[in-house]
Amino acid sequence: MPNLVVVGAQWGDEGKGKVVDHLAQSADMVVRYQGGPNAGHTVCFRGREIILHQIPSGILTPGVKAVIGCGCVIDPYTLAEESAALRRLKISYGRRLLIDSRAHMILPYHRMLDTLQDKQRGKRRIGTTGRGIGPAYQDKLARVGIRAADLLHEDIFMDKLRRNVAAANFVLMDRYKADPISFKSLAEDYWKVTRPLARMVGDGSAVVEQELKKGTRVLFEGAQGVHLDLDLGTYPYVTTSSTGAWGVGPGVGISPLWLEQVVGVAKAYTTRVGMGPFPAEIEGSESEVLRKLGAEYGATTGRPRRCGWFDAGLLRASVRYNRFTALVVTKLDVLDSLEEIKVCTGYSLNGRRVREFDAAHAVELEPQYITMRGWRQPTGSCRKYRELPLGARRYLRKIEELVGCPIALISVGSDRTQMVEMKPGALKWLKSG
Ligand code: IMP
Repeated sequence: MPNLVVVGAQWGDEGKGKVVDHLAQSADMVVRYQGGPNAGHTVCFRGREIILHQIPSGILTPGVKAVIGCGCVIDPYTLAEESAALRRLKISYGRRLLIDSRAHMILPYHRMLDTLQDKQRGKRRIGTTGRGIGPAYQDKLARVGIRAADLLHEDIFMDKLRRNVAAANFVLMDRYKADPISFKSLAEDYWKVTRPLARMVGDGSAVVEQELKKGTRVLFEGAQGVHLDLDLGTYPYVTTSSTGAWGVGPGVGISPLWLEQVVGVAKAYTTRVGMGPFPAEIEGSESEVLRKLGAEYGATTGRPRRCGWFDAGLLRASVRYNRFTALVVTKLDVLDSLEEIKVCTGYSLNGRRVREFDAAHAVELEPQYITMRGWRQPTGSCRKYRELPLGARRYLRKIEELVGCPIALISVGSDRTQMVEMKPGALKWLKSG
């Protein structure tokens, strides 16, 4: 029963969309277990770019079934847009997508509250994606959320919505001095937009377990990254879900004992969107070099991403939390033209050497760097590890050595075919492994 969890090893935007798309070619089912439309998984498909926010990227592989697990939050308006984008690519997924009945719904007032809340934080703002993620999970924790199952019963849905709109209007008007929303027009519009979804709602937990019992190949697709995790991330500069492999159990409704392998996806350098500590960040205009080379602008919000060097201490923490079986390193080609490349090997904290990123002291960590010579050759057309320039191979081996985890795959461009196997045996999931 091979199954694999794919986790972002940094602060999100590691290129998981492309990696999942690649790995899903050997999968029977792909399952999202947390987050919502804050994610933006960019995949290059038949020469065109598609950004999936909520539908697992595995859907692009014919025959692969997809599940949006109970740990996710769903925005039906974004889902309708994704659905239209898939139709344009002539990908039909109607019977292949299942939405767990326990997943919570994002409503337009969640988006409004998200933006207003973050603005009110002033200097302490998190820089959220404004997609309503935090407020939707807040309703879930407050036990007043509207779930996908509620879309199957109009009277139950309307009753819950009426109460929630009243509560949201109170906050909108009283705390934020904003205009209230109209229950009637919201209810009509939301009910209409959710009709195509209702037939996809079912028991994700039972369906996934059935597949695991049958021994089919199930891939669990994480969103965001380990260091944006609500518990283990750089709190409060985090998202509101459990982004690591530990999120799969409650986010799908299966026992963690089912899980076999966990792969961490890391960029060959580091980026972060939104606020919060980032020890290996490149300050000032120098960061523009990486931003331009890597087209580092948010897939969901278009915001420029903060850029920095590869941080081995950050990865060490990710490896420990998740027990990664292997790593996939993405965007190696972005470094092709650099003369020198720095790598953060650890930190100094009050004169003491610290090997592993520590979220509790993140702002005090002073990065320690080594500088490596760049390879100054294009890697985009390499398909075999031995075809990579010597300098690139040295860089990758250094990462393995510093992080203590083998690299199974390397991505050298956005196209599906631009993938190089380094140690495929490290990842039993790969057919050649
Ligand atoms: P939220 O998830 O929209 O509440 O945003 C919380 C923090 O997580 C902000 O710093 C966002 O920029 C960040 N974030 C959320 N989703 C992603 C993602 O998919 N990639 C990178 N950062 C993200």
